[in-house]
Amino acid sequence: MSTNVIQTPIIIGCDHAAYPLKEKVKAHLIEKAIDVEDVGTNSDLSVDYSDFGAKVASQVSTGKYDRGILLCGTGLGMSMVANKFPHVRAALCNDLFSAIMSRRHNDANILVMGGRVIGEALAGEIVKAWLETPFEGGRHQKRIDNFENLERIEQRLGEKLENHMPSDNG
Ligand code: RB5
Repeated sequence: MSTNVIQTPIIIGCDHAAYPLKEKVKAHLIEKAIDVEDVGTNSDLSVDYSDFGAKVASQVSTGKYDRGILLCGTGLGMSMVANKFPHVRAALCNDLFSAIMSRRHNDANILVMGGRVIGEALAGEIVKAWLETPFEGGRHQKRIDNFENLERIEQRLGEKLENHMPSDNG
């Protein structure tokens, strides 16, 4: 990795299907003197990707970490879970071009990869590009602001629905 790589601490998580790749990605980050918070999983015993996705995404959502990395077999489940959290922009990038564009245009704050899709060498290149590439801002910021507004609408709708739910003691 070059000196352009951002040095912000990274929170990382995976399920059993991507445990070996998580260990390799973590080693790449540590080698570059990047602080890593590893929330697991730490073996190839079967776990639910949703639990580990939530651990990482919740801490990016609250702003405790600016950036996170999630890995599961395909990357699909982790990206679905992570994007449930407000202010999270999780991007599934199993190729280099997507990784670069996810930063330039989408200001992605969580990188997701599939441990059963890509190997260590490509994952290393993807992480490097993702950490080096800045957000372009401008028209892309306006688009992100638009979907932050949609998140607020979704939250208000949820609150309204909750207020109209019949009570359990009916
Ligand atoms: C686990 O078998 C697998 O479903 C999971 O790693 C992931 O690919 C889900 O999207």
